[in-house]
Amino acid sequence: MNRLADKVAVITGSASGQGRAAALRFAREGANVIVADFDEEGGRLVAQEIVDDGGNASFRRVDVTSEGDVAELIQYTVDAHAQIDIMYNNAGLVRMAPIADLPTADWDFTVLFELTQVYYGCKYALREMKRRGSGVIVNTASTSGLVGIPTHGPHAATKAGVIGLTRSIAVDYGADGIRCNAIAPGFVPFTKQTAYLSNDSSFIDMMVAVQPLKRPGTPDDVASAALFLASDEASWITGQVLAVDGGHTAM
Ligand SMILES: NC(=O)c1ccc[n+]([C@@H]2O[C@H](COP(=O)([O-])OP(=O)(O)OC[C@H]3O[C@@H](n4cnc5c(N)ncnc54)[C@H](O)[C@@H]3O)[C@@H](O)[C@H]2O)c1
Repeated sequence: MNRLADKVAVITGSASGQGRAAALRFAREGANVIVADFDEEGGRLVAQEIVDDGGNASFRRVDVTSEGDVAELIQYTVDAHAQIDIMYNNAGLVRMAPIADLPTADWDFTVLFELTQVYYGCKYALREMKRRGSGVIVNTASTSGLVGIPTHGPHAATKAGVIGLTRSIAVDYGADGIRCNAIAPGFVPFTKQTAYLSNDSSFIDMMVAVQPLKRPGTPDDVASAALFLASDEASWITGQVLAVDGGHTAM
């Protein structure tokens, strides 16, 4: 099946983890994928993997916390491919601690790396999508933006912000033919971001205990949801948050 045939998809943070899984998956469904990440080595490998697999991809080095970098990423995409159909704002980096112990610099870092950059990604993609009268945005939130999780204060605040931004964009741009939805992943171990927790069996046990399906998530679980939301199968869905969390937020 070619669910994304002829689509041009920008995926931020696609050098590893969930973004990498989505890049491979989107390309297999026919999309031309722009792998966008500040990890140059990892990003080039993912783009090469796609090309070796017979797909279409290119790598762009971008620090999504730089508004100029994000503006250039969108301009490159439009210059090279004449269009941007899918913007998947997946990149993220967080510093966590209970709020009373969190240095203000870590708060500011998390707001920039998890929320402000999503605003940049949406803003520049929306300008092009509005011009064409179509487009899909998928933003990565987190179950932390939906329910309380110990020590997740800054992550909770920024991901709840991503959810609010997503809904607001859906309302403002639906009439322009643009859909905007968010994914809220539960705990996905063994990504770069969660590597430090992935051998901590007590943390994994705790995260598995709070969900009905009783297994940690995988990058492919999240990529499947992103693919659905990015595809025309979701053509009447906008402003929604899809939790991909083994049922954690249903408990
Ligand atoms: N893993 C989890 O348990 C989990 C749970 C909920 C939400 N999330 C969210 O999922 C998304 C993907 O995370 P992941 O778990 O796949 O982690 P990951 O660390 O494997 O992937 C994140 C990618 O983003 C890139 N990146 C980070 N900051 C960047 C920047 N400023 N500019 C360009 N690239 C940047 C990294 O280089 C990396 O390739 C993040 O938004 C994260 O907050 C993860």
